[in-house]
Amino acid sequence: MRAQFILSALPILGAQGARILQSNDDGWAELYIRSLNGALNAAGHDVVLSAPADNGSGTGSSDKEPSPRTDPCEYDSCPANSGPVGSNATNPRLNWVNSFPVTSVRYGIDTFAPQIWNGQGPELVVSGPNVGSNLWLAVPFSGTVGVAVYSSHEAGIPAIAFSGASDGNLAFNTSPVPARSTVYAQLATQFTNAVLAAGAPYLPEDVWLNVNFPKVEGDCTDPAKFKWVLSRINPGVFSDKDVETCGSDRLPTENSVINAGGCRISVSVGDSTDKTTAPAEKQAVVLQKLGGLLSCLD
Ligand SMILES: *[C@@H]1O[C@H](CO)[C@@H](O)[C@H](O)[C@H]1NC(C)=O
Ligand SMILES: *[C@@H]1O[C@H](CO)[C@@H](O)[C@H](O)[C@H]1NC(C)=O
Repeated sequence: MRAQFILSALPILGAQGARILQSNDDGWAELYIRSLNGALNAAGHDVVLSAPADNGSGTGSSDKEPSPRTDPCEYDSCPANSGPVGSNATNPRLNWVNSFPVTSVRYGIDTFAPQIWNGQGPELVVSGPNVGSNLWLAVPFSGTVGVAVYSSHEAGIPAIAFSGASDGNLAFNTSPVPARSTVYAQLATQFTNAVLAAGAPYLPEDVWLNVNFPKVEGDCTDPAKFKWVLSRINPGVFSDKDVETCGSDRLPTENSVINAGGCRISVSVGDSTDKTTAPAEKQAVVLQKLGGLLSCLD
């Protein structure tokens, strides 16, 4: 009920629907991306989805022209022998690409989105929620991160990568939809709306946001219970100072935020040129934009 209130209250705050392109690495028919698709649409956004035909987890920034399929897509979500790319039979906003995650978002940006949006591109790319966390050492290998890095660096479109610690792959037509899929979708929508509400440019150049949700369990099953904490991807022992916040010029690592429990969500400002932590001046822009949403670790 709380989350629904937050979503429905947004128009009153003046948030505008945005052209959002969704992708992921678990595949176009994975339940997490479909729950988020529903939540973003319900929040009034104009959404196109372009994601891999199959699970492309762990393929980082690989990119290769799609090849024709012989098998059905994951979860029997497209027929056998249905070409190198395709769309849902009745909904042209849901698309698959028979290649890597980065290839699928590239097709979304260059081909599917302009067809739907009269030649216009997306204003924001949202990747995930990934099935499983993408913290620190996992970041360079993650296709979910690869999608956000391609979008923000190569394509120049601001991007957010969401990952959820509650794992276990589920098909698009799973019924009933488990709480973890709905809660991640609501949290990702709340965060996306906060980024958009702070106005364009939505993020600094060559920046993506790496957002990791803790498990949906115990006390952490109500979206209103979660707290957002600004973090860094890698430990900062030899790094330049971070933005000053919460009485320190060293941000907590994303691992330490998740390990602290208390339904805390880590929000790292990623450098899209090398998949490490972005410099302090770019962190400062994000802190300024999201200040009202963020809280301190201790
Ligand atoms: C997707 O791929 C990852 C990495 O190879 C694997 O761990 C996971 O089990 C796969 N999921 C499914 C549903 O095959
Ligand atoms: C295709 O779209 C329809 C209508 O939105 C939906 O009911 C169905 O589950 C979708 N199937 C796939 C595989 O996306």
